Amino acid sequence: MKTISIINLKGGVAKTISATNIAHILAVVHNKRVLLVDNDKQGNASKMFGLHSYDKPSVAEVMTTRNVNLDEIIAHTQYANLDLIPANMTLLKANLEVMFDTTRPQQTRFKTALRSVEDEYDYCIIDNAPDINISTINALVASDDILIPIKIDKFAFDGLAELKEQIENTKEDLNPGLCLRGCFVTCYQRNEVNKQGEEWLKTQTEYPVFNTHIRRTEKVDESTFATTPIIEYSRRCGAARDYLKFVEEYLSK
Ligand SMILES: Nc1ncnc2c1ncn2[C@@H]1O[C@H](COP(=O)(O)OP(=O)(O)O)[C@@H](O)[C@H]1O
Ligand SMILES: [Mg+2]
Repeated sequence: MKTISIINLKGGVAKTISATNIAHILAVVHNKRVLLVDNDKQGNASKMFGLHSYDKPSVAEVMTTRNVNLDEIIAHTQYANLDLIPANMTLLKANLEVMFDTTRPQQTRFKTALRSVEDEYDYCIIDNAPDINISTINALVASDDILIPIKIDKFAFDGLAELKEQIENTKEDLNPGLCLRGCFVTCYQRNEVNKQGEEWLKTQTEYPVFNTHIRRTEKVDESTFATTPIIEYSRRCGAARDYLKFVEEYLSK
């Protein structure tokens, strides 16, 4: 199982849209067995698959339960190859609980839990919150690859240095195999700001950048209301085609 974290310290940059659609495309188009982990208390990835709930265990229990049984937490989506560990607001309290519980390792709980299903899935995609907290650190420790979605605006590159530092620290201390596979531009519009922002990103050497950007399309907003992955909602729209291409680029590298 290859584990990929979608992460950026900023909100509203299409982390969730990317995580859910990449997971869905890997499962449906590439026939991979995929586990999507919603690692944000907002639970938006869970909502996209109609699996947001307070009646069932969620990612909070993965953080707090000793010898957790993931089979009791993993929910099935309507897509045969795509399963989900949901999230809800209980993750807030779970994070505090983990911080105060020093009786066992705090940063390796995802890694340990995910090991129990590593033969059941080809890919695990983690949708993260715009934060560095014990949940995101657990995600970085459990991940092989990192993808950073970037929406070009005046503040687009804020927090990138801090994120990079956190990645480096995680690599040094807890997960030497961690790889920043690259940034990719989301919500791309044909204007000067986007062109220059993307060009700037490609000139600097510290962050690898994917060739494929994801175009801004109103269909994406509509697809969230329809709680339907973009290629199911509108296969021909720019963003659907770009996510298909992006996944191909990721797989070919
Ligand atoms: N390619 C796109 N075109 C148009 N709107 C988009 C696109 N990608 C994301 N959005 C919109 O941007 C908003 C933020 O996306 P989301 O994935 O929730 O961001 P994050 O998880 O980083 O906070 C949502 O309203 C979503 O519909
Ligand atoms: Mg999100």
